[in-house]
Amino acid sequence: MSQAMAELFRQITTGVYVIGVSAEQQHNAFTAAWLMPVSFQPLLLAISVNPQHRSYRLIQSSKRLSVNVLRRDQLALAAHFGQPASVDKLANIAWHPGVSGVPLLDDVAAHFECAVCDCHPAGDHVLVVVKVTDGALHHSAEPPLTYRDTGNLDGAADIYPDQF
Ligand SMILES: Cc1cc2nc3c(=O)[nH]c(=O)nc-3n(C[C@H](O)[C@H](O)[C@H](O)COP(=O)(O)O)c2cc1C
Repeated sequence: MSQAMAELFRQITTGVYVIGVSAEQQHNAFTAAWLMPVSFQPLLLAISVNPQHRSYRLIQSSKRLSVNVLRRDQLALAAHFGQPASVDKLANIAWHPGVSGVPLLDDVAAHFECAVCDCHPAGDHVLVVVKVTDGALHHSAEPPLTYRDTGNLDGAADIYPDQF
């Protein structure tokens, strides 16, 4: 429960992404900021995912996901996809299935399609390492949304410990 610790960790700059998943005839998506590139050859990304999320089970089932890059004017989408999956988050949002069937949002800065390579336990999260299999840039002129722009949208200040 620490605003100070949350503010400290907000100094670590990341973008804000909507991770799309499809499995078992279900589609879902969730907001994630703990994502980084980790290899040039092959092209790999690492995403830290809370295994309690509904999306995590779908990722484990299909081993596929999309990364949709949000623009700075898309804070409302970050909030929308940060909700739990008790609502159908993809209803009323324009999207289409990618080559591998994962949800790609129509109106974002860029997207990647990815296949899961490895999963590594990382404290209360799981580090999901994915290989990029496809991708496209849509709005290169517009700056991406950053995690810092989202304030306490993810409730991190209520989760971070107050001591190291
Ligand atoms: C700005 C923001 C960043 C987030 N970053 C992550 C993240 O990196 N990893 C993660 O597992 N959850 C992250 N979340 C939380 C999930 O988006 C949230 O718990 C969501 O409800 C999970 O959806 P699901 O249960 O439908 O899979 C973030 C939420 C917000 C608002």
